[in-house]
Amino acid sequence: MSISTEAQSLLLAATDHNLLLLRSLLKSQTPNVQDPTTLRTPLHLAIASFETNPPSQTQETHTNGNGTSTSETKDELSLPPLTKATKTLELLLQNGAIWNSLDVNNETPGCIAYRLGLKELYEVMVDAGVRAELLFGRLDGYMALDDEDDEDDDEEIDEDGVIDISTENNEGTEEEQEEAPELVSTEQTALEKAEEEAIPVTSDVYLSSTLSIDDDKILDEDKNGVMMSWESHIMSLTVQHLLTPPTPTGPKILNIGYGMGIIDSYFQSSTPPPSSHHIIEAHPQILQKLSTSPISKNPNVTIHSGKWQEILPKLVNEGDVTFDAIYFDTFAEDYSQLKLFFTEYVIALLNPEGKFGFFNGLGADRQIAYDVYKKVVDIDLLEAGLETEWVEVEVDSKKMEGDGEWKGVRRKYWDLEKYWLPVSRFIG
Ligand SMILES: C[S@@+](CC[C@H](N)C(=O)[O-])C[C@H]1O[C@@H](n2cnc3c(N)ncnc32)[C@H](O)[C@@H]1O
Repeated sequence: MSISTEAQSLLLAATDHNLLLLRSLLKSQTPNVQDPTTLRTPLHLAIASFETNPPSQTQETHTNGNGTSTSETKDELSLPPLTKATKTLELLLQNGAIWNSLDVNNETPGCIAYRLGLKELYEVMVDAGVRAELLFGRLDGYMALDDEDDEDDDEEIDEDGVIDISTENNEGTEEEQEEAPELVSTEQTALEKAEEEAIPVTSDVYLSSTLSIDDDKILDEDKNGVMMSWESHIMSLTVQHLLTPPTPTGPKILNIGYGMGIIDSYFQSSTPPPSSHHIIEAHPQILQKLSTSPISKNPNVTIHSGKWQEILPKLVNEGDVTFDAIYFDTFAEDYSQLKLFFTEYVIALLNPEGKFGFFNGLGADRQIAYDVYKKVVDIDLLEAGLETEWVEVEVDSKKMEGDGEWKGVRRKYWDLEKYWLPVSRFIG
């Protein structure tokens, strides 16, 4: 694969943070050109230029790649290297640069900034990701509304989320395709990328599959980790935060997804113990295990067998059930389901002083995807009327790796050093 001379100039101008030349080239060139060997885009290169030339050592010299001086404005010439790099990223993004394309090393531009410790540039890329993901979320909503009468399409949107937008564009008339913004037709959201790798099964396939259930983990048929015991300290801390301050008469609790029963055991052993504890679980094997556990013998525990999507509308309709703490941790469901859960059901079922938490594992195999999704969820929660405190929890990923924690698991779904534990409550 070769690229045009103009495209090569664009890549060089991005590497050199040559704003004037970039502005001129971007009039006719796409900012999403990739170097044929490294697959790096102008965004990658604008950041990667500090790989060999760290900001502190960068000289204020400006070449156009041929060693000749360029005609940047005087003001721009005198800017510090990092400021020029920031402006370069902003210019590329304003012109439609895709924030999360991958180079041959499987790095997005933000991954490079993170690796090089270039915080300022990393934040520019995180914010670009948040804007793009929020836009996708909104467009997805509009598509769902447009398709309201078409049951088949509705089903597709429920299962595949935003992927349907690009399908729609591909199937449109030629004229429609031309009008469709490039961002919509070509960009893949960080979450889609994470989901493609992380969840090769749909919810229905997962729920009818055979699980292998061990003392320290549950795997699905494809050896994907459904739940693992290393998450225990996250579950324990979550319970502490959700049940502080304590409800003197014993909290009323709702948990979605029993899994290994870890969080339910912590809820049960809290002081004072729960006055009522509802558990919703859909997988037959997990339900079988739950039915033989001591938890199920407790008269204050109510087990609902089935998908939360089917059970909760009935619970809400009963009208008199509310909870002091609600926790959500399912498997093989995409972000649209978590969002549906808090926008529809947390609002209806949480006591005014109650707290809501969920397992925050979105994009957790890549720092920038995790940081983008933390911000996206925070904004969506706010829009739903919930403000969120994020508690930082250390996760010793290196030790986990060394201890062979992921042995036999198809894919490491967690690869970060910090977990952000969400505790949401009604605003004000
Ligand atoms: C990650 S595990 C939960 C782990 C749990 N928090 C613990 O501490 O052990 C996810 C659980 O959600 C269940 N699940 C998945 N989809 C569901 C749905 N739509 N409704 C109810 N439960 C579901 C799975 O069968 C699984 O048991």
